[in-house]
Order: sequence, then C-alpha cells, then structure tokens
Amino acid sequence: MKDMDQKLTFDEWDELNFPRPEVQDFDRVVERAISRRGFLGGTLAFGSGAAVMGTAFLKGSTALADAHAGSRFPFTPVAAQTDNTVHVPDGYTWDVLVRWGDPLFSEAAGDWSSETGGTVEMSDKVFGENTDGMEIFNVGGTELLVVNSEYTNNDINVPELAAGVVGEDLEGIPQSADHVLKLQNLQGVTVMEIAQDSAGAWSVVVDSPYNRRITHNTPMQIDGPAAGHPLLQTAADPTGTMSLGTFNNCGSGRTPWGTYLTCEENFNGYFGATGELPADEVIAAGYQRYGINETGFDYNYHSFDPRFDVTVNPNEPHRAGYIVEIDPSDPSSTPIKRTALGRFKHENAASVVAANGQVVVYMGDDERGEFMYKWVSSGTYTPGGDTATLLTEGQLYTAVFHDDMTGEWVALTPEATGMDEAMIAIFTRTAASAVGATTMDRPEWIAVNPTAVEAYCCLTNNSRRGVTNDDGSIRTNAGGDAMSVNAPNPRETNNYGQIVRWRPHQDDHTATTFDWDLYVMAGNPDVGEGAYAGSANVNPGNMFNSPDGMQIDTAGIIWIQTDGDDSNEGEYAGMGNNQMLAGDPVSGEIQRFLTGPSGSEVTGLTWSSDRRTMFVGIQHPGGDWPDGNGATPRSSIIYVTRDDGGLVG
Ligand code: FEO
Ligand code: CA
Ligand code: CA
Ligand code: CA
Repeated sequence: MKDMDQKLTFDEWDELNFPRPEVQDFDRVVERAISRRGFLGGTLAFGSGAAVMGTAFLKGSTALADAHAGSRFPFTPVAAQTDNTVHVPDGYTWDVLVRWGDPLFSEAAGDWSSETGGTVEMSDKVFGENTDGMEIFNVGGTELLVVNSEYTNNDINVPELAAGVVGEDLEGIPQSADHVLKLQNLQGVTVMEIAQDSAGAWSVVVDSPYNRRITHNTPMQIDGPAAGHPLLQTAADPTGTMSLGTFNNCGSGRTPWGTYLTCEENFNGYFGATGELPADEVIAAGYQRYGINETGFDYNYHSFDPRFDVTVNPNEPHRAGYIVEIDPSDPSSTPIKRTALGRFKHENAASVVAANGQVVVYMGDDERGEFMYKWVSSGTYTPGGDTATLLTEGQLYTAVFHDDMTGEWVALTPEATGMDEAMIAIFTRTAASAVGATTMDRPEWIAVNPTAVEAYCCLTNNSRRGVTNDDGSIRTNAGGDAMSVNAPNPRETNNYGQIVRWRPHQDDHTATTFDWDLYVMAGNPDVGEGAYAGSANVNPGNMFNSPDGMQIDTAGIIWIQTDGDDSNEGEYAGMGNNQMLAGDPVSGEIQRFLTGPSGSEVTGLTWSSDRRTMFVGIQHPGGDWPDGNGATPRSSIIYVTRDDGGLVG
C-alpha cells in the first residue's frame, strides 16, 4: 500500500481523497441510467414487450412454469459451475452437434485425431475451430447452419507447435507454408446442412451439396465506396475489387432476404512485416489506429504467404475489417465485402426493417474506447424485391450518448468528417472520431428486440476506462479519444461490463435520436462495493461478468452469453464458468440458463426453424471437453431441447 501511495501523482492522490463535485453529479447520472424508474419500470413505454412476453417461450410450459417461484422464466436457474461440462436446467437436455475437425465431406471422415489435429489436406473439408456467431436458414425445407470460426489456437491445431515440443519462443508460431495453410483453412465460415433424426438427435449431413468452407483464401467481391480505391489495389488485384478470404469472423447477422452476415473483427492480427512497415503517412496512420504491426498475433502468415507481408503488400490490410454477405442457398456464390458498412473490428450486425421499409443494421467496434455504428439503407426492402444495393447505398452513423439519457446517431458524411466516402469506408474509426462519437467499453453483440422498438449492446468490459497514464493524462483509444467515464460507461476500471439499451424516437429505427438506459451493470454483490456490486437486477444467484454474445428470441427474451474471467476468485468469486443467461426486457429479471465447461467462452446462438432446438457455441473449452479421457479440447456447437418438446425461443 505504501508503495502504491508513493506512486500516486498529486492529482491522483487529490482525486482519491477529495473527489471533485462533478463526480457526485456523475453518480446521479449513473443512478438515473440504471434506475428502476427508467425503462425497466416503464411498462407504459414498453408495454408492447410486456404483452408479447410469453408467446413462444412461455406458452405450453405448464410443467416447468411453476418451477421457479416468482420468475417469468419456465426453468429453474442453474447454479454457477466450475466443472468441465455443460449444465442446463432440469427438464432440458444438451448434446454435441459438431466439433472442430468433424467431417463435412466423407473424404475427411476419420482424418482428425488428437495427435495430428487433422491433416492439412483435409483442413478445408472439416468444421473449423473456435465457433462463434451463427444463424440458421431454412432453404426449401432444408436447415442450413452457417457458422463462424473466429481464430485458431495454433498449438492445438498444429500439435508440433505445442509447448514442450518446440521451445517457448516458437510455441504456436507456424514454421512452414503447410502450417499456415492449415490455420487459414480452419478459420472463416462453414455452411452445413443439419438434420434431426426420428429420435430428435441433430447431426451434420455429410456431403450435402450445400456444405461449404469459406476460408482465408476464398475469393470475395469488394462492394461499396471503397471498391476499386487505390488503397485497396494490390499487385494480385490491380482493380481493388476482388480479395481473398474473410478474417477473424466473430459475430453474425442475417438479412431479411435470407443471407448471412459475417463480421471481420481482429483482422489486424494476421498481418506482419518481413522488413519495414509502410512509410506512407495515410497508411501508417491507419495501421496505428487499427493495430497493424510487424508481428500481428504470431500467425506468422507473412513469412510464408507474401499476401500477408505488409512490407510487400501494404494495401492488403485495407481489404479486411468489413461486413461480408454470404448467400448460403448458393454454394457457388461469391461472398461480398460490404464496405459501405465501415471498416473496423466488427463484432456482429443486427439488422431490422424499419416501419418504412428501410434496412437498419446496428454494429459495434470491439476495442477499448471504440464506437457503435448504425447503417440505414437508401432503398427499402420488399420481400422478393431487388436487394442488391440495400447494403451499398445508404448512410452510416455513429452513436453519441448524452448524460441526460438521450443520444443521437451522427451521420458520417464528407461534410461532417472532412473525408470522402471511400476514406470514410476504409478509415471509419477516424471518421467517427472526427464527429465526437462516444468512446464505449468494447461494444460486443448488438441485438434488436423483435417485440419492441429497442435494441441492446453488450459493453463487455474496459480495464482502462477512466485510468490515467503516468503523466496523469487519461487513457485514450488508439485515435487519441479520451476514455474518461461517461454516462453509458460509468465505471473506472470496468472489469464486469454492462448492457446499454436504446429506444429510437418515434418508434423508428431510422430516427437519428434516441433515449437510452442501462439494462444491467454486471457486478459482484458479494465482494463489490457501490457500482461494482452491479445494478439491482444482479444478485448472488445470477452474477456474471463480461457480457458478449446476445440474441433476443421471438418472445423478446434476451439471451446473454459471457466471455469473461472464469477464475471464480477474488472479484469474480461466485460467478463460475462462462455462461448464458436469460433476461426479461420488461422486469429486468435475469436468470442463469446454461454454464459452459471450464476455460470456455459461450458464444453464438441460433434456433431451428421450429424453435424447438437452440444451438449454442462453446469456444476454446479447456480440459478435455467434450471427448474426455485426456483428448484435445475441441470447440463445439451443442444443441439444447426441452424434454417435453416445447419451444425454446
Ligand atoms: Fe470476437 Fe469481440 O468478440
Ligand atoms: Ca464476442
Ligand atoms: Ca469478448
Ligand atoms: Ca472472444
């Protein structure tokens, strides 16, 4: 303690001992943001949500409806767990649908083993690693599951790079073109037909003509304002309109016209340099803002695949970081990078058709102090109509939150930003900084409530919020925007996260103004004090940290998935493994529905078309889950059904 005191600057010491009056004012803002008198108590304002709660999920659940007295959910909540398996409530059953390495085509059957992690030859014919966002599309009665594989744990995919096999300095760092190709093949997107047998068991339909792997090498069309721009031109593609691969596919989205949206998040990590970084000022500034450097995340692609070597190909990173549209119904279709929706570390893409038919897509940029965005199409959607330009022509906005519980979507126009449309599409973060977007605590998934005109965003955590540098200045994002505490991000050193909700004015998702509140501030009521204990709807029985994945089902239930600290110790004591909770948008009640195996993140959620099965992603499990007996842990998709065959979403 003494040492710490000696390290405090005068300003820090002063702030600790004599907090400034504005801090107290700010506390009142926070109190208002999470007040029960706000949206949560607003049954008048949110009455439509109350009316539809219970249509699908609750109806016909008589056997289970009474299971948890006082709750509107038809299940008995699951206690926090620390073991190496999945838990769901009594009356529900889970099983594994597919694991990393499972074959999509019969030629790859039996290829995967713990010893090899599968062969490079079959690596684009199996289910990829680290499952994340996913959506189901019903095409002519066939269920197609489209799933992201976000990244690879190189040391388990390529066991010859594991600890003890190679020296510490080489652990997990690819050492050959084959290593690189295998990792490139095991990421991206999988399209696969799935089917349920007469006993209710789901499985992948091996060799379905719909089955497809989209990898780091699949040809993509580039669309929108950035297409053809000199900054997207490379030696291999002088037109700047065709690129290879989609990267770090994190969350998902779906369009009203039945296509899949995959969201390129930490694309920067795949690039590296064999020599100098580019000297060009514009390029260098972009690299700095997006985190492109000599080594990336040690994928070492650049040593064996020159496309990823920015010394040779400085524009290649400008061709990643977008929303990519995929037509799952046509295995020969070329995915399209929709640059109009901006270039940043895209988490997911939550779309909704506004009352007037315009298509609105909400998006978050998951990095400390980065921003939230909204796309509004120029044209309108009509079922069966032409949808080709709905994600090309329109307006991109960024969110500004005010302390008075209102906010606005500020248009990223050339006039407002001083940048032309192509530069806004390529350096979207810079454009948003120029208009004073609100720095957020890492926007993860956004979900639109289908039963009320409102949307939610998981702000997962931000350990640097409100934290000062040694010189006393406040920490900033990579663009220099200060991460001072602000109304929707009210906690310094925010290790728990919160969920912000907004309601567009005039019940219109195209509106440029909105009201907002905090649906929940995660926290620990056992060990945390003040705001760190969490909001009133957090208690010792449902506490969690780092909300991340999120979907809202047809009944308006908010499904919240976590990607946080699962140590179950210290400030996280009592939270257990990462998990999935159900939230009531009207009452604010939150109950734990599922716990993941130790070490895992629970991410990705979708439902069968009959809503009687939910599919849940289990990413980077620890131990030997799901195969046991010392096997390699494998990222998997599980499915959950009700024993009485009832609806689950
Ligand atoms: Fe891939 Fe921000 O999670
Ligand atoms: Ca995530
Ligand atoms: Ca996360
Ligand atoms: Ca994650």
